[in-house]
Amino acid sequence: MTPLTEAAELDRLPEGKLVPVFPNGLPVLLLRRGEEVFAVENRCAHMGCPLAAGELDGYVLRCPCHDWRFDLRDGKFLDAPELSLRTYAVKIKDGKVFLGVP
Ligand code: FES
Repeated sequence: MTPLTEAAELDRLPEGKLVPVFPNGLPVLLLRRGEEVFAVENRCAHMGCPLAAGELDGYVLRCPCHDWRFDLRDGKFLDAPELSLRTYAVKIKDGKVFLGVP
């Protein structure tokens, strides 16, 4: 199992906003929905654009470079689900968000 790394404080993550973090130096994008947090690689599966500047609609993030759309719950590319963003396990404990990043 991948060890967990502290990435953020839950109460510093605004509801429904994209927040870039760098646990262990990795570019990761967080999305908080209520008490749930989703974590994906902050790099598009197409040509690597940073996704933090993308447009969010519910759980769907549109890449700012060429409009590919991904579901942040599972990282899947909506037009071809066999492609996806890397996702990371999230654990919330004592008000802190931990991620399973290598
Ligand atoms: S780099 Fe994201 S759609 Fe092209």
